Amino acid sequence: MSKSSELVRGSLLSILANSEFHSGEALGKKLGISRAAISNHIKVLISLGLDIYSVTGKGYCLAQPLTLLNLDKIRETTISSHNAEIEVLNVIGSTNQYLKDLSVAVKNGHTCLAEAQTAGRGRHGRKWVSPYAASLYLSMHWSFSGGYSVLGGLSLAVGVAIVDALNQCGVQGIQLKWPNDIYAQGKKLAGVLIEVEGQIGSGCQAIIGVGLNVALPTNIEEIGQPWIDLAHLTEPLINRNLLAGTLISELTKSLMLFENNGLEPFISKWRALDVYANQAVKLIIGKQSITGINRGIDASGAILLETEQGIKAYHGGEVSVRPI
Ligand code: ATP
Ligand code: BTN
Repeated sequence: MSKSSELVRGSLLSILANSEFHSGEALGKKLGISRAAISNHIKVLISLGLDIYSVTGKGYCLAQPLTLLNLDKIRETTISSHNAEIEVLNVIGSTNQYLKDLSVAVKNGHTCLAEAQTAGRGRHGRKWVSPYAASLYLSMHWSFSGGYSVLGGLSLAVGVAIVDALNQCGVQGIQLKWPNDIYAQGKKLAGVLIEVEGQIGSGCQAIIGVGLNVALPTNIEEIGQPWIDLAHLTEPLINRNLLAGTLISELTKSLMLFENNGLEPFISKWRALDVYANQAVKLIIGKQSITGINRGIDASGAILLETEQGIKAYHGGEVSVRPI
């Protein structure tokens, strides 16, 4: 995608953002390009997941108003103890991959956000549906001293941080599904993907990725499981910049706490948010599955499953939980 096309589409979107009709001719005049070029740019924007429709004689209209990410506005709501860089990007493959590919050393809390991802990913290489300006796609870098073992339960601490950020923005009733999902009304609202790199004997670098649905378009592609967005939970819709600043702040505070105290300060909060607490569930471990009662988490963040043989702890990685 050429830089100039991206700039034109950015300008086009800032005009369409108010969700009013704009004729192809008026748009062409404002941007100094032909109506045919406008029509081509609109096609690309639709392919990125934007819900733009056209009505003969009236022009183009966005189905819902858009708030584009704005670094100054994000910074306005980010706590001062976050002293690392925040990068706001347009369309990229994956924010996690972007931070992984940075060749320079970055500070703890270095964050990038994108308007859309073309290769957004979840655990086990699954796809994260990432349409334009419809969600938050955010990744934060954090280096930990000590080996991989110090990161046990990190996704649970991050889940609690996300719930705290949402509560602060006025969204209540959020729950957590072990080990990395954020739920509302029994459906998936957000997911956490933590990717770790490091050498034996030295520290490890974590990239903490969060995808949080804000207002997914009505013409969304198949997600493959029940999902929800903030548009179905709050009225008026939360401003994405305020949400991004609050999320960066809560992640920063929680990662500092986790670095110093581990999972312990998050355990009781996590247990109170467990979406399947004391319910019958199935644990899927590779090709195997075990049913039992979900008895929450232990001090290390492992899930506790009660079966006729007693209560046994299962650690993350390959394990998935499903209700029955
Ligand atoms: P697990 O219990 O193993 O975490 P999961 O189905 O939640 O299972 P993940 O890898 O955590 O799997 O998340 C990826 C899955 O999330 C995708 O396979 C898809 O079902 C779902 N998904 C993808 N995009 C979105 C989205 N924008 N909103 C909600 N859910 C999504
Ligand atoms: C999951 O539920 O499996 C985790 C989904 C994580 C998605 C986010 S979006 C920002 C970051 N970049 C990615 O490619 N994935 C994470």
